[in-house]
Parts: sequence; C-alpha cells; structure tokens
Amino acid sequence: MTFSAELFRAEFGFFQQHPEWIYLDNAATMHKPAAVLAAEQQFYLTQNSNVHRSAHGLSQLATAAFEQSRQTVAQFLNAGSSHQVIFQSGATAAFNQLVFGLTGTVLKPGDRVLLTVLEHHANLVPWQLHAKSAGIELDFVPLDQHNRLDLTAYQQLLQRQPKVVSFAQVSNALGHIQPMEQMVKMAKAAGALVVVDGAQGVVWQQPDLQQLDIDAYIFSGHKLYGPTGIGVLCAKKQLLEQLRPLFGGGEMIQHVSLDSVSFAALPYRLEAGTPNMAGAVGLAAAIAWLQKQDQQGLKLHKTQLLRQLYAACMQIPGLELLSEPDLNAGILLFNLKNEHPADVAEVLNQFKLAARAGTHCAMPLFQQLNVKGAVRLSLAGYTTVTEIAQSIDILTKLPEFF
Ligand SMILES: Cc1ncc(COP(=O)(O)O)c(C=O)c1O
Repeated sequence: MTFSAELFRAEFGFFQQHPEWIYLDNAATMHKPAAVLAAEQQFYLTQNSNVHRSAHGLSQLATAAFEQSRQTVAQFLNAGSSHQVIFQSGATAAFNQLVFGLTGTVLKPGDRVLLTVLEHHANLVPWQLHAKSAGIELDFVPLDQHNRLDLTAYQQLLQRQPKVVSFAQVSNALGHIQPMEQMVKMAKAAGALVVVDGAQGVVWQQPDLQQLDIDAYIFSGHKLYGPTGIGVLCAKKQLLEQLRPLFGGGEMIQHVSLDSVSFAALPYRLEAGTPNMAGAVGLAAAIAWLQKQDQQGLKLHKTQLLRQLYAACMQIPGLELLSEPDLNAGILLFNLKNEHPADVAEVLNQFKLAARAGTHCAMPLFQQLNVKGAVRLSLAGYTTVTEIAQSIDILTKLPEFF
C-alpha cells in the first residue's frame, strides 16, 4: 500500500464541490471522507433509535452500533477495555468532566497539577475553574528558546511532586510534537498521573495507551477526519471509577430517589443524557477508514509539504516564523512584520486560502511568545503539492498588499 495524495483527496466530496478553496485550517477542523458521511447517513436511515433505553429491535440495533463504535475506539487506542472509553461532545467537554471529576476525589487542597504554558484553553481553563478554585496549585512547564517545552525545567517542576501532569501531544498553535513518551516516563517516575491532550496529536500518531502507560487520553472526532459533536475521554478503569460525574441525568443512574442517587457502572455513569449516537458511529468509521491508509506515507506527505512551505517562507521578506519544521505535525505559525495577523488572514481569504489568525485558544502561549497573535496554516493528508505551491505564491505577494 502506498500513499497517493490524489486518491486520498478524492474521498473528500468538499473539494469536488469547492475546488476554489485552499483549506489550510485543518487544526481547527478537518473535512470528512465519504466513508464517514455514509456511516452517519446509514445510521439514521437504518438504525435510528435511542440506545440502551428500549426493548425493541431498532434500539438494539442502535445500541449495538454505538457499542461497536466504543470498541473501535478502544482498539484504536489500545485501551484494554471498551468500558474505558467515555463518549463526550468533544475534547473540551472531556477535559471539563475529567478535571471536575478529579477535584475533591483524587485531588485535594494543596495538591499540585503540572501543565505547560502552551496548552489549549481546554487543558487550562477547566483546571482554573474546578481545581484552582478548590485550592489545587497549578505549575507550568516553560518554553525553551526554540519555542519547545523546556525539559530541564519540566524535570525540576516534577520535583514538586504533582499529583497530575497534563500536556498536549502536539501544540495546536505551533504544531510542535512533544516528546510524549519521554514526558510520560518522567512524570511516572515522579509518581504522577498522566493526562495527554490528543486533540491535535491523535491524527499524527495513534497512541498505544497501555504501552505508554497513559492514565487518561482525550481527543475530538472532528480533528481526526470524523464528525463534530463527538469526542473521547479514555482512561484507566480505576481512575474513571474515582471521577465524580459532571452531568447528571438519564442512563447514568443505577438508582435514584427524591433525596439520593447511585450511579451506573462504567462507562454509562459518565455519559448522562442521550449520547451522540450517529457521531460515535461516524467517529468509528473515520478511525476504520484512517487505519486503512498508508500511515507512513501519510506522515511523509505532510512532512514534505511542510518542509517545502517553511523553506519558501524563510525567504519571504518580513515573514516572521514562530514555529519550526522539524518534529512538527503540520503547522506553520507566522506573522508579517508590523501587520495585524487578522489583516493578513483577511488578505489570504481574498485568495480563498483558509487560514486562522489570533491566539488560537492558547492565549498564555502568545503572552510567552510576546506577540499579540499570529497566522496559522495547518495541513492535512488531502493537502496537495499544487496547493502548497499556490500558497507560497500568495504568501510571497503578501508584503505588496500592505
Ligand atoms: C490541543 C487542543 N486541545 C483541545 C481542543 C479542544 O477541542 P474541541 O474544541 O473539539 O473540544 C483543541 C481544539 O482546537 C485543541 O487543538
């Protein structure tokens, strides 16, 4: 099996409908292949019913499809058991559930949690909302001079004995791939529980949770060629069992009276309300589809395109690059000297080049970088050599527009 960018791209109907767009906003959300659209449609056309609630045959079909999807996710992550997969609406919801659930149970006042300065707000604000307000101290791994995590400082911060270490596998703003395996090992040696934000990383490198010994792993379907509105909190059983449910409601209950409640077994106790059934089916279809692709070829394709983009951008006068091409999952972060990133992105938009400008839900990172914001170009498997050449052309002309 060899990777063909053309065949890969042909599976995305969006580009047939809209050949005019150069879509380089994949870190925000990705387009979906036909297999994902078909799986969701198939669910609604042939199985639509509520899961776990009714005795009738349709509900059994829907339940089977939903639980099969859970199984697919568990296998994909090598989690051990499908009951360790909690479906959430996305990574943000998963973080809120995890952090709320840990606070007061695993984490007590005076305990420490170690994050990094480059985290997406989803791996920062829930810690501020739930943990910090309950007296839990937050520490942050700083950056080194290459805008990568400073591992010496990380080692020193681990000496403060954090109960939990939580970091992104890949930075959503810089694209830099963290040395996940090494960071997990270091955190484990310090006795911490490890949470990995796989929102950007899962599409780059499928994790083996058991082999890596990660305690909790979180990602969103829509950044893995899957649907929006579905995400995953996958964690070790003993950790999940300790989490306080953030949401209460239907199906997460074992018994309820007017003044007391006991909760169902995992995974249901952390899935209140009707879940996103079609979303789960769509996510499983995305995973199954992705696993059929040539993973090494896919990586090489993105790496080569990114190198080409960086090499050209380094030659453009006034373009200030904030990220590096090596150990990068497919993101270029830049500014045009003296210009506002939003204005730059608007010029790109006029060329139908979809980019994102701003602080990319990682405001503290931009405070560290000492810039107000930046423009982000993020690639996917369906990005073509031609699109990169066209983008370079547009970027080269950028200074003329200001
Ligand atoms: C690294 C990272 N973590 C978490 C999130 C939150 O994901 P979602 O918005 O799908 O909940 C994102 C989204 O951009 C992200 O890039």
